[in-house]
Amino acid sequence: MEHKEQVSDLKSDIERLTVGELVRATAAGLDADGVLTARIDAELLVAHVLGLSRSDLVVERHRELSRAEQERVAELAARRAAREPLQYIVGEWGFRRLTLTVDERALIPRPETETVVARCLALLRDLDAPLVLDVGTGSGAIALAIADEHAGARVTGVDVSEDALSLARENAARTGLVVDFHRHDMLAGLPGDPWDLVVSNPPYVRPEEATGLAPEVVDWEPHVALFGGGHTETLVRAAADALTPGGALVLESYDERARAVAELLAQEGFTEIVVTRDIAGRDRVVEGRRPT
Ligand SMILES: C[S@@+](CC[C@H](N)C(=O)[O-])C[C@H]1O[C@@H](n2cnc3c(N)ncnc32)[C@H](O)[C@@H]1O
Repeated sequence: MEHKEQVSDLKSDIERLTVGELVRATAAGLDADGVLTARIDAELLVAHVLGLSRSDLVVERHRELSRAEQERVAELAARRAAREPLQYIVGEWGFRRLTLTVDERALIPRPETETVVARCLALLRDLDAPLVLDVGTGSGAIALAIADEHAGARVTGVDVSEDALSLARENAARTGLVVDFHRHDMLAGLPGDPWDLVVSNPPYVRPEEATGLAPEVVDWEPHVALFGGGHTETLVRAAADALTPGGALVLESYDERARAVAELLAQEGFTEIVVTRDIAGRDRVVEGRRPT
């Protein structure tokens, strides 16, 4: 009897939680489970379940939630506590001007990769209808953002993963953008036309660096998207032949590695080599032009 009363008290407590209280309780739970971004993740999960924006949560903070809504948040928070990436749980994520579907078929597009797109657009500025190749397109993020922001660009995206390609095609349909996605292994060279621009965010984590990766990354994102051996080097060599004279190669890399990639471009005869920092101030994007 006493137990029943406790259960019924608990139920009525659950029913009385407001948006603000649920955000706080969810954040405390995630924090206790070691999620570093507990508060922001709690806000995004509650907002997702309620169909609100994060900023709406403040306005709605006194709204009482239904039991079903609370249970749904608890379900999603348990997935997050198991370190599933927030982006996979909510199922979509912003990249440049686009909202893309994201799931375990491909890498989650990162904010630093937006800098890659910015460099591509700058290099394409004077071309009306450039031919662009995105190698290792994943969710299609880079290819679709270029198609979105350069009206005349004719963009192809290739990947070795059929899973990634199916997601990229869904994102093309979702955004209404035209990109030709097809399967190609970059280790076999580069396909097709002489390109005005080749861009890639290739897999560049060395297998021995796996221990340094967050569980969200190493336990959830496709390993074919993360771990590379010689992809960057192969790409640089293949791009030297696949580009039109004066065509540009744009590669994502990371901190310490970026300078070595720039040197590789110089060895292969690229000119106008530039290393650009990402929004966090780290060397991230390496570009160069094939001599005319
Ligand atoms: C770091 S992810 C980048 C995904 C996407 N471009 C982005 O920036 O979000 C690398 C991509 O390269 C693909 N990939 C790995 N090995 C490949 C290969 N040999 N040939 C073509 N694509 C490959 C992976 O499937 C993955 O989609």
